[in-house]
Amino acid sequence: RPKKRFRILRNAWRLTLGLTFLGAGWLAYSIYETRFPHEQIEPDPAKKTLVILGSGWGSVALLKKLDTENYNVVIISPRNFFLFTPLLPSCPTGTVEHRSIMEPLRHIIRHKRASVKFYEAEATKIDNERRVVVINDLSDVKGDVHQTEVPFDYLVVGVGAENATFGIPGVREHACFLKEIGDAHKIRKTVMDCIETAMFKNQTQEEKERLLHMVVVGGGPTGVEFAAELQDFFEDDLKKWIPDIADDFHVTLVEALPNVLPMFSKTLIEYTEKTFKDEKISVRTKTMVRNVTDKHIEAEVTHPDGRKELQRIPYGCLVWATGNAVRQVVRDLMSQLPQQKNSRRGLAVNEYLVVNGTDGVWALGDCSATKYAPTAQVASQQGAFLARLFNSMARTQNLESELNHLEELSTQAKIQEDRESLEREIQKKSKAIRRVKQLSPFEYSHQGSLAYIGMERAVADITWFNGNLASGGSLTYLFWRSAYLSMCFATRNRVLVLMDWMKVKVFGRDVSSSF
Ligand code: FAD
Ligand code: NAI
Repeated sequence: RPKKRFRILRNAWRLTLGLTFLGAGWLAYSIYETRFPHEQIEPDPAKKTLVILGSGWGSVALLKKLDTENYNVVIISPRNFFLFTPLLPSCPTGTVEHRSIMEPLRHIIRHKRASVKFYEAEATKIDNERRVVVINDLSDVKGDVHQTEVPFDYLVVGVGAENATFGIPGVREHACFLKEIGDAHKIRKTVMDCIETAMFKNQTQEEKERLLHMVVVGGGPTGVEFAAELQDFFEDDLKKWIPDIADDFHVTLVEALPNVLPMFSKTLIEYTEKTFKDEKISVRTKTMVRNVTDKHIEAEVTHPDGRKELQRIPYGCLVWATGNAVRQVVRDLMSQLPQQKNSRRGLAVNEYLVVNGTDGVWALGDCSATKYAPTAQVASQQGAFLARLFNSMARTQNLESELNHLEELSTQAKIQEDRESLEREIQKKSKAIRRVKQLSPFEYSHQGSLAYIGMERAVADITWFNGNLASGGSLTYLFWRSAYLSMCFATRNRVLVLMDWMKVKVFGRDVSSSF
């Protein structure tokens, strides 16, 4: 028995050692690959130009899987990096540093086999008739040329969406959003400014309470995750280092519907609301914000008896997370196409993601209107689908030109044997073309939904053998962390995020302001 136990222990030790070596080898290779990209094939004027707008989930998933040697690829985006949005709510509080969830586009582009052009600019107009995109340099430093046109043969629109405000007065002027990295900085600065201003000498109690009231509008996953992160920041760090705010700092989540996280199952909604109660986050459901001033929100509250009341709620920091709206450049393209007349949520596309009313223009992600929710999962699967589509289009074109060549040879062949062998080759090629052309329409495969709800707890609705598995708690939180870590774009990001989490566990979060 002791011998057997010893053998098991020895084998387990060997396995651990083996796996550690394998992991270290993989890490070392990934770092080497990142640091030393290979030579790239130069653009070829004989090839078609594929222009991709955006550097988000959809466009980057396309770029990652695209065989760039088949096209002259041009990327246009106002930001020269990919942003891992699922960890963005952790950024303003410093649980994760912003650079850890940004992957420079140049890293991605330099690892492609053929070179890819990148212009840091905003597409302001897509001219479908003339097949050009008008682009504008948005940076503070302007050269002699800051607006120009980029012609395209094929165009993929992946510009995402902007923050919805529903035209509610005061939102744009007074609220912070949470979509881009700059938004995370602004929230951080506002939260810390509110705290330090509340601590200002002779501040009245009423003003102190207002300044320390953090209001998050929108009970979707963005609002829920950010409210949870902010309350964690307060409980774990702010309260310890600035004890004077302990009694007055308060987070409120405002939602127009009867409950938060409407896309999650009922048990998880209840679990989230109970957890928020334990965390002392106030959840105000059936509360629709109608107006925002510099110090108050005005919200219409529906009471249980159906009575409606307008309430003024003072705030110090207001974070607005009420979902998506269509970007101007997309609205403009829609207005050029009669086939888009009835589309409201974005560009209507067919089952191959071709924009209705166009030829050679595709749309993916949050800027397209499909039956799926606007999520990173959908956008990245659409990007991977379009990469397969473009790769197979290029392979078909190559095979077709080889076929034409063989057919020419066959008509010129004098010897019967040569003709027969060419005939066999032609049949093989025709079969290959049929196979390559058989690309099924896009179909989304839902892997589940995850959200962080604070106090090291998460909720997950996971698709499991055609069924649904709903779970919430600390184990789900570990699953949430490992899932997001594995989804990170590159090894570099994984290592950085892991280090951030460890740093926060050991030293806590930084409580200094940002500039
Ligand atoms: P985006 O990723 O938004 O990318 C759009 C790109 O287009 C950007 O690079 C932008 O700079 C660029 N662009 C904008 N305007 C122009 C222009 N005029 N010309 C050229 N380029 C332009 N989804 C999940 O599935 N799971 C999550 O956990 C999750 N968490 C999220 C957390 C937060 C805080 C947010 C805001 C969203 C989250 N989402 C999540 C949703 C997810 O981020 C989006 O659905 C996803 O980013 C959509 O991908 P996209 O490529 O369509 O757009
Ligand atoms: P959302 O559209 O999911 O939720 C917005 C919420 O704001 C809605 O519940 C709406 O009722 C509420 N609202 C709108 N106007 C309001 C008003 N005036 N007053 C009060 N409440 C109001 O938006 P969100 O959270 O920004 O998410 C956008 C997309 O990104 C969604 O598809 C979501 O699934 C995805 N996402 C997914 C995450 C995850 O899976 N963990 C995290 C964040 C976003």
